[in-house]
Amino acid sequence: MDSAQHQDELKKQAAEAALSHVEGGIIGVGTGSTVNHFINYLATIKGKIDGAVSSSEASSQRLKAHGIPVLDLNATGGLSLYVDGADESNKSLQLIKGGGGALTREKIVAAASERFVCIADESKLVPVLGAFPLPVEVIPMARSYVARELVKLGGNPVWREGFTTDNGNLILDISGLQIMEPMQLEQQINNIAGVVTVGIFALRPADVLILGSAEGPRTITA
Ligand code: 5RP
Repeated sequence: MDSAQHQDELKKQAAEAALSHVEGGIIGVGTGSTVNHFINYLATIKGKIDGAVSSSEASSQRLKAHGIPVLDLNATGGLSLYVDGADESNKSLQLIKGGGGALTREKIVAAASERFVCIADESKLVPVLGAFPLPVEVIPMARSYVARELVKLGGNPVWREGFTTDNGNLILDISGLQIMEPMQLEQQINNIAGVVTVGIFALRPADVLILGSAEGPRTITA
């Protein structure tokens, strides 16, 4: 098994372990390869749930293909559970998300949920956030302006060319940051005119982190 296959096995393990958090009702479902495994497992107990609120068009399509109803967050009200992956987590369960570009809807569903269960392989747990380039969703006309502001904060923003978010916006990926104060930086970047969302999830971190590991799933609780 090569290392990509091994990592995928660990993602699958975390996704399966998250099923024990599903108690019924409407489930918030995130985006990405780890969540794709979760959707496959969720399909095996679909009779137990009423449907899902999805954080992306891609996840919506997968959920529907499994016969799981996809519902509008405006119609469901608050959710009890949100399950999503992450690009990085620190030990306080503050995250970097948005590698798949779905950060804005992910942040909305996380905010509207009582419990956020994050699923990942163990390589995603890091001492300090920032080695993974931090995604920022921006309004197209603000791309250059926001990039200049991000340089002032010490980052190196790169436009994710050829990619448009589900909301019709662009993504800047910022490398070169060591995020020592995640809540402060989340607020600071969100305050730049033209930024829709920054992929730091610190003001609303995960409540539970399930990490797939060679020794089996590890659960960290905030
Ligand atoms: C998408 C995300 C994903 O959760 C994140 O990129 C992790 O993806 P994967 O499960 O494929 O490693 O934030 O916007």
